[in-house]
Formats: sequence, C-alpha cells, structure tokens
Amino acid sequence: MNYDQARWTDDDERYEPLLSEKHTAEADLDDAPLPDELTRDSLELPDLSEPELARHYTRLSEMNYGVDSGPYPLGSCTMKYNPKFTEDVAAIEAGAVHPDRSPESVQGNLELLYDLQDYLGRIGGMDAVTLQPPAGAAGEFTGVLVAKAYHEHNGDERSEIIVPESAHGTNFASAALAGFDVVSLPGGDDGRVDLDALESALSDETALLMLTNPNTLGLFERDIEEISEMVHDAGGLLYYDGANLNALLGRARPGDMGFDIMHYNVHKTFATPHGGGGPGAGPVGVVGELAPFLPKPQVEKRDGTYDLFDPEHSIGKVHGSLGNWLVLVKAYAYIARLGDPGLADASAKAVLNANYLASQIEYEVPYGPFHHEFVASAGDQDAADVAKRMLDYGVHPPTTKWPEIVGEALMTEPTEIENKTTLDQLADAFNAVADEDQDALAAAPERTAARRIDQTGAARNLRLSWQALDDE
Ligand SMILES: Cc1ncc(COP(=O)(O)O)c(C=O)c1O
Repeated sequence: MNYDQARWTDDDERYEPLLSEKHTAEADLDDAPLPDELTRDSLELPDLSEPELARHYTRLSEMNYGVDSGPYPLGSCTMKYNPKFTEDVAAIEAGAVHPDRSPESVQGNLELLYDLQDYLGRIGGMDAVTLQPPAGAAGEFTGVLVAKAYHEHNGDERSEIIVPESAHGTNFASAALAGFDVVSLPGGDDGRVDLDALESALSDETALLMLTNPNTLGLFERDIEEISEMVHDAGGLLYYDGANLNALLGRARPGDMGFDIMHYNVHKTFATPHGGGGPGAGPVGVVGELAPFLPKPQVEKRDGTYDLFDPEHSIGKVHGSLGNWLVLVKAYAYIARLGDPGLADASAKAVLNANYLASQIEYEVPYGPFHHEFVASAGDQDAADVAKRMLDYGVHPPTTKWPEIVGEALMTEPTEIENKTTLDQLADAFNAVADEDQDALAAAPERTAARRIDQTGAARNLRLSWQALDDE
C-alpha cells in the first residue's frame, strides 16, 4: 500500500498548504492610484515560481481520483480513460462556430456530424440517428418519446412500458417521465429475462420493452430473438439501452437482434468519461419506420452538400443545438481512429479483462458466463465498506449495492483499457479487502484527502462555500 493523497487538514504531514500559506511577499502599495480609504495597509501575495505553482495544483488534482489516476472499474458506468488524441482533436475544434451559423458556412462541421450519424448507425444496425440528446438518460427519454409518437401516429395509443427489475434506474424514470405506466419485469433464476414473466407482462397496452444487453449482470440475453418476436407480436417496440455496447462493439448489432430504438452512451462506449452528470452525449438510433419521428433538425447530405432538415413527424427539439458538439467530436475521433478492427478489439479486451479479473478475486461471482462486467457479492461484508477500503489501496471501487439481485453487489467493469498489471493491482486490492476484518473496513478510507463523510448530513445540510464553514 503506497498510496496517499494530499490532505486538507494542517495537522497532517501530507497537508498541502494554501498558496497564501506558501512563500509570500509584501506587495508594494505606495503607488496605488486609488483614494486612501480604498487602499490596504499591507498585502501579502504568494511569491512562487512556476514549478512551485504547477506542483501545488498537481497535488491538489491528486486529491481527486480519476481515470488518469488508476483503474476505475465502475460497473455499468464504464469509466474509461479518455485518449489524449481525442482531447487534441476537440481542442482544435473548441472555439469553432456558433450553433446558429448557416449550413453553407459550416460544411465541415456538418460533415463530421453526418459521418458520426453514419458510423453510429452502422455500429448499432440502425437506419437513422439523432445526435442531439446530451446524455444516456436524455437519449432514453428521447427514444421513449419517439416510440410514443409512433404509436400515436398509428392511432394505437399504448400506456405501458416494460422494464426488467435489474435495469438502470433511468429506464424507469424515462418511461414514467414520458407519461407511461412502468411494468417491472422480474428476472429469471439465471439472471436473464424470464420468458414466462414477459408473456404475462405483455399486452395490447405495451408500447415498449426496454432492455440492456448484456444486462446489468453482464449476461447476454440468449433469447433475444424470441423476446423480440414476442414484443413485436404484441404490437410493442423493443428499446436497447446502449450503456453496455462496449461488450458488443464490432461483433453484434442491436438492430440485427430486433431492437427498434437504441441510445448510445458515446461518453462511455467511445471516449469522454462522464462523471457528476456530464458532459455527455446520448445519440438515438432507430429503424427506418421510426426515422420520421426523430428530433429536428437532422443532418443530411444531398448532392455532396450537407444541410439540415426536419423529419416529417418530428417530436421536436431535445437540445439547444445539434448536440454536445465537443463530446461528439471526441466520439467521432475515437471511432475514426480505431476503425472496425479497433472497435472489435476493444470489445474483445473488455470481455477478456472482466473475465480475467473475476477469475482472480476471492469474492463470489454468482452469475455467469458474463461479458464486459460482472457482479460479485461482498458476502458478509458491507459493499459500501469494501468500496471505501479499496480507495486506500489506490484503486477506485466498483459500483456497489446494485443490481439488487446480488446481495452486497460489487458491480465491476475494468473496461478494455486496463492491462494485466493494473488488473492484478485491482485483484490484489479486492483480495486484501476480502481478508480484512470489520474494524479495518469501518475505519476506511484512511489514505484519501477526505475520510468517511456523513453522507446524510452532506445531503441534508448543504454547505456550498468555504465561508459557510468559517461561519459555523
Ligand atoms: C445501463 C445504463 N443506462 C443508462 C444510463 C444513463 O446514462 P447517463 O448517465 O449518460 O445519463 C446509465 C448510466 O450510468 C447506465 O449505466
């Protein structure tokens, strides 16, 4: 264990002083061109060299933990390293153009967006794609609205959306927000969709079944073709939550499995790790029949020229401009650089890494075989304690306590970016914590800038400024 973050508290030897506590110099105030009553008697300013400043800020940045710090196996959320070349490409584009520029004057930007629509369509097996939604959940909501508009257009108003109980919370929320009744689908003993339960849930009120495949346990829905047939026979549509697409990239396509609508979490699957709610992008792909309902405007190419058009029965706009431009640029750069072989290689490594890591840890992994992530059980330990303690070993913990099908769940997704050395580092951290007693767990984390915080208090008694702390 050689990991130790800088500290906020000045009684600790790892304390990182404020700039004003470092070397300061008295500023010369004599010549200040201000009335006397407005000038200070004295002013101490930090007097530091550039390297001192750079080190100070680097130390502060190390008080957080990110994908640039070490492994970050946050299951389902897919926290991947953000390749620096995608940042470079985005930086070139950063100051680019105002979103309201005329299409003739931004042909290059529109070409990029058009090509990205095309790439994503081909990756997902979808006929048309909108890039507008600014996050995965926003993509879900958009997809649900498209399904609603489609049914309504056909004079077939339906009131229910079926969501497996293991699904991500945003699936339930998106369905409810769009005004549907949510029918929760219990899972089968093998962690997958139970076809009998699905049969009972389906009715002529079913607008949509929302599925993640592989699901949140990392399990591929083997009966996906049958599921698709059952939903379509009932007059419903099939929605693919693309958060786990990095398990299938370049190998299988939701469109070929019978899905009608999907969102891509481009900020997880390709580049741009998302944290704290953004920024992200959640493009939505649909089969041809649903294309007329996509948000407006869409980018099109006619006679070699790029333009915008409004789909005939569009649900309207879901974002202020054409989407979260810089996140889309990064996704474009990533896909273009990797190409088909690179994407297929990424999914192969994502699956290999998850399986290798699962084989190295002492915690039980109840369901399998799995793809790009697995859900271990912390058993008698509290998964939240395990997570806190793993921080002391210099790794980010997995997602905890979800999905609830597994008791004290440790939902782990190392992603394709890790190599054997970092996977072994992760496994060592898991195993060290698995062998520890409750006292060690309860005291954790000991080596991070912030110790265990009062989470309830933090939520109930929000303090948003340093001042509030001083006043108390
Ligand atoms: C399975 C699944 N679906 C949807 C989402 C929502 O995506 P976003 O956080 O981009 O809104 C997530 C996010 O973690 C997810 O894991």
